[in-house]
Amino acid sequence: MKSLEWKLDTYELVLIDQRILPGQIEFITCRTTAEVVAAIRDMVIRGAPAIGIAAAYGMAIAAAAGVSFPSQTFLSTLANASADLLASRPTAVNLPWALNRIQTVIDTFAGNNEALRDRIIVEADAITRENTEMNLAISRFGAALIRDGDTIIHHCNTGPLATIAQGTALGVIIMAHQDGKHIHVLVDETRPRLQGARLTAWELSQYGIPYDIISDNAAGYFLHSGQVQKVFYGADRVTANGDVANKVGSYMLALAAHANDIPVYSVFPTTTVDLALPSGDLIPIEERDMDEVLGISYHGQRVTPEGATARNPAFDVTPHHLLTGLITEMGIVYPRFRANLPRMMREKL
Ligand code: MRU
Repeated sequence: MKSLEWKLDTYELVLIDQRILPGQIEFITCRTTAEVVAAIRDMVIRGAPAIGIAAAYGMAIAAAAGVSFPSQTFLSTLANASADLLASRPTAVNLPWALNRIQTVIDTFAGNNEALRDRIIVEADAITRENTEMNLAISRFGAALIRDGDTIIHHCNTGPLATIAQGTALGVIIMAHQDGKHIHVLVDETRPRLQGARLTAWELSQYGIPYDIISDNAAGYFLHSGQVQKVFYGADRVTANGDVANKVGSYMLALAAHANDIPVYSVFPTTTVDLALPSGDLIPIEERDMDEVLGISYHGQRVTPEGATARNPAFDVTPHHLLTGLITEMGIVYPRFRANLPRMMREKL
């Protein structure tokens, strides 16, 4: 099941609506950049790599729509589209990263509007292809860490829906399974939007990987009672010192794992690294609508009292000292992250 599909003949972006999976499988077609912005903001599409790719195609849609404009108007249309896409979600750095790639194309291009539109589409396709290759390389490095018989806790959703191929942390798990290792996954349900219970569980069942869903607050029990060998989760932004912003709850999970000497790995493509930020304290943390927390029902009934209020940070930051390793397409980075992560990133250049 693909998270997105670009339609070159009509300049449309088709997204699977992740808000209603797995109960309903419906697709949303974005024909304007504003529709892509809304789809990212409302989490029709989500997951750091996937929203970066969606934003790149959002720029392709803007370019296709403005192709008959005078050159200056065309360029200001593209600038506005880029600003709108950038503002759609603040935490995952893959979004500005992809928009910067497209901006570099725009800034260095000499040609007419049609040619620039086509060049932007080529770049968005390249970003998609590179992400697919990165997923595969990440999965290979990570799968080597998994032993036959391991039980793994996974947080949020990092599989095909959050990316464009088999995923990052979930890609590692899928590859270990495909390598013939017998593994069991404890799937954090991932309150409040339940990406684990809805999306990760659905993906695992498609691959035939054994799992149980656990409430997020049960992780400590499983870690302390010796029933878990490893923790894997993704990342939305990784700073120069190795701090990792990921779905809210990751930090508490890492704390509990660290206290019980269970290794914790964050898994991501290098497009998720933000060397411009020295530490995770500087990462912008998205705070979403309180109704995501308050709207929960139990046996068909809303549980929260009338007029209740809530706080709803969508992400938290795991300080690097709680992490065992960072798994990327270039290899696994181990402490000292502050030295080793920037060194690896320099090799990429
Ligand atoms: O709010 P979401 O669902 O977009 O958050 C997703 C996560 O936190 C993922 O773990 C992260 O983006 C990595 S996806 C490969």
